[in-house]
Amino acid sequence: MSYGLVQFAYLIATALFVFALHWMNAPATARRGVYAGVIGMSLAVVATWAQPEIVNHLWIVIAVILGFAVGIPLSRVPLTAVPQRTALSHAFGGLAAGLVGAGKYYLWFGDGSDQLTPFRTTAIIAEVLLGFLTFTGSLMAAGKLQEVKWIPQRPVTYPMQNVANIGLLLLAAALGVGVVLQPLAAWAPVALAAIIVLALLFGVLLIIPIGGADMPTVIAILNAYAGLAAVAMGFVLDNKLLITAGALDGSSGLILAVIMCKAMNRSFTNVLFGAFGQVQQAKAGGEERIYKAESIEGAGQVLEQANLVVIVPGYGMAVAQAQHKVRELYDQLRKRGVTVKFAIHPVAGRMPGHMNVLLAEADIPYTDLVEMDEINSDMPQVDVALVVGANDVVNPAARSDKGSPIYGMPIIDADRARTVFAIKRSKNPGFAGIDNELYFSDKTWMLFGDAKSVIGELVKQLSGGSGMH
Ligand code: TAP
Repeated sequence: MSYGLVQFAYLIATALFVFALHWMNAPATARRGVYAGVIGMSLAVVATWAQPEIVNHLWIVIAVILGFAVGIPLSRVPLTAVPQRTALSHAFGGLAAGLVGAGKYYLWFGDGSDQLTPFRTTAIIAEVLLGFLTFTGSLMAAGKLQEVKWIPQRPVTYPMQNVANIGLLLLAAALGVGVVLQPLAAWAPVALAAIIVLALLFGVLLIIPIGGADMPTVIAILNAYAGLAAVAMGFVLDNKLLITAGALDGSSGLILAVIMCKAMNRSFTNVLFGAFGQVQQAKAGGEERIYKAESIEGAGQVLEQANLVVIVPGYGMAVAQAQHKVRELYDQLRKRGVTVKFAIHPVAGRMPGHMNVLLAEADIPYTDLVEMDEINSDMPQVDVALVVGANDVVNPAARSDKGSPIYGMPIIDADRARTVFAIKRSKNPGFAGIDNELYFSDKTWMLFGDAKSVIGELVKQLSGGSGMH
């Protein structure tokens, strides 16, 4: 393939990446977005491979086979494990960038080549630093989310932690400046090796103080780092596609992290340095509070009589894979003339868009999915709020209890509905590890059990009934 043709293919691939991101914005076009991304990436790989200077194809074939061998099983993980799967992808991306940067440096150093211009060496340092810290940082993040035994889930903090971390980073940066100034000095390769070790260490230390609750946000930030590493790699290899794709990756990761921080009312610096999840003191007082349980028959009757039902799905719906049963319940209620809406909290579940994906899988029309800000003003008119495996996102403590770790996080005002039914298996708290006042409220009735089976029984109850309003 000629140089011009390769550049043209890169241009098309870049355009496809931009469209892919744009189409991801709406459920109706998201599938098209995925296809555009896949076609863009395939085109990019083929065009790069078809360049005339590539003469030894064996290593590339081996790498492609290895890539498929790792990638195919990774694509089969359950939806609840997607955040850690994504972290693994960033780890691989970071490692690739770091290795290419280091490889290029040692190759050019060996040649004594004039390729190591200050600009290019700076790009190599950035690539190596970002790439290797993304590698270990993402592995740690994936490990925490997967609850790997030897990685502590709780934030680990010690005195002077931030100072030590920043000191480490400054040391690596100082070594980097040295290498940029004298890339061919005898000590420069050793300095680069030291930078690699410091970056690997920094990645681990960066994640240690961050609790599981902030991990998905951190993964979005690591996504941005991986993107920036790819940009630096683009400058090193003089490859424009890597620069544009990396920039898209970096900026979208950053935007996502900001959106998630807003939805959880956390500041960026808080996420990175706050050690969230540590300060969860148990409530004093200790008197056992009373939950009111309701029977399936009772709940079925109330639901049947309602005009407006709002279903609030959460992480528990994902765990139970209850979305198809939820769809059946939605159908049953609509058959009876009940209006049914879904209240979508931006961080319900464990990843952005988690609830949207599950409900779309069950073919629930996305016109009935209502964002938190929009539905909250209607909540006082809602006859029944049916909470399906959600906890933190409906916890009124976020509005009123200044001492609560989730204080200030916007919530879905399920407590303002006339009646609340809450489905969960036990009295255990949700992700933030705190009690939920909603479950003790006068108007709340618990339906204890697995979300899929409870909703299944509700559906049975309704379909066995007369169907008259
Ligand atoms: P959670 O607060 O985690 O509550 C989920 C509830 O589901 C639990 O109380 C659990 O109670 C119940 N549950 C679990 N398995 C169930 C099953 N099979 N059947 C029925 N119920 C089940 O979830 P949420 O309300 O969706 O809130 C999300 C949390 O994750 C927030 O704290 C949020 O900040 C955090 N988070 C989310 C994201 C994103 S991007 N979504 C990112 C970072 C952090 P039982 O054990 O009693 O059943």
